[in-house]
Amino acid sequence: MRYVRLGVRGPRVSVIGLGFWQAGSPLWGWRGDLERGVTSVVERALEHGITFFDTAEIYGWGRSEELLGKALSALGVGDEVIVASKVGGFRGPSGIPRAVEAINRRLRRTVDLVQHHWPPPYTTSFCSVIRALEDSVKKGLAHSYGLSNYNSQELVKALECSRRIEPVSNQIQYSLAYRSAEAKLKGVMDERGIGLIAWSPLAKGALAGLREPVTRAQRSDKVFRAAASDEELQAALARVAERHGASKAQVALAWIIAMGGVPIPGLRRAERVEEYAGASNIVLDEDDLEELDKASRKYISMWGSDYRFSNIRVIPGTIQYIAIRAMGGV
Ligand SMILES: NC(=O)c1ccc[n+]([C@@H]2O[C@H](COP(=O)([O-])OP(=O)(O)OC[C@H]3O[C@@H](n4cnc5c(N)ncnc54)[C@H](OP(=O)(O)O)[C@@H]3O)[C@@H](O)[C@H]2O)c1
Repeated sequence: MRYVRLGVRGPRVSVIGLGFWQAGSPLWGWRGDLERGVTSVVERALEHGITFFDTAEIYGWGRSEELLGKALSALGVGDEVIVASKVGGFRGPSGIPRAVEAINRRLRRTVDLVQHHWPPPYTTSFCSVIRALEDSVKKGLAHSYGLSNYNSQELVKALECSRRIEPVSNQIQYSLAYRSAEAKLKGVMDERGIGLIAWSPLAKGALAGLREPVTRAQRSDKVFRAAASDEELQAALARVAERHGASKAQVALAWIIAMGGVPIPGLRRAERVEEYAGASNIVLDEDDLEELDKASRKYISMWGSDYRFSNIRVIPGTIQYIAIRAMGGV
């Protein structure tokens, strides 16, 4: 496993992390014993040198954090791993420190990186949110803070607000099938030393070669559908994979690493860990990168001219909260 610093100010993490959305989410439906499954994922991750884990308060409405925390404590894991979680973008500034305290209780540790899951509703000031995140770090509730799903304008605004402690990272959707960040956002992040954490690095399994959706999360995802039916991209992935004696998933993850990002693939079975970890050994050469770029350039503009998470900002925070809570989290 290789290790990198997250941006210029962040912690050192394995170049491949793991996402724990699947652990307890009603949209994924974990098969088999969830608690034992999560523990065995963490155990295997440590065996393969993966030391970076991502979760969020809305994943299964706290369930994912609880399970990850329980697994880490059962395995006696401490500072050797970096645990990232997220406070919901619906949280107003006064609710953020309390939400971070609750995250820490569920994780049974001080969260290493607390991320603001999506930019605040239009009615909430950016600076008040950034202040609350800074305060959480100042008070020792989190070791660092980051953002998630902030586009270039929102990121610049956040950086203008952060005079005392700057965010270390921005967690965004980024993969061979979703390259919108390259139009603008990624340039701003690189220039400002903000680490790129890539979510849905496998387009929910489509870039691993899965052609038909299996779960609700995959069925409702337009990027999954596009990547699963993209013969040009699937063929390019297959050719590069064959040259490296690797799998399509490993090539898709290695491409993100080559682009300077830290992918956090999700999973519902421990067997995937070894394959994901193996991606850190693959070094793509210029021909590989050119071939993958050619087959996926269309995804720089296909999903919009700048990074766009959703229209969630027009919904007041309280309504966002009630809706997500009523669903039992996502
Ligand atoms: N910040 C945000 O707004 C945000 C949004 C979404 C996700 N995330 C984070 O990013 C993490 C990863 O993103 P993601 O879960 O959306 O998608 P992903 O990592 O792109 O895809 C994960 C899925 O790919 C499937 N897969 C992998 N290899 C496969 C193969 N060979 N054949 C079939 N299926 C295969 C896995 O299936 P199985 O389930 O069968 O193992 C897994 O559930 C999440 O866990 C979460 O931590 C953050």
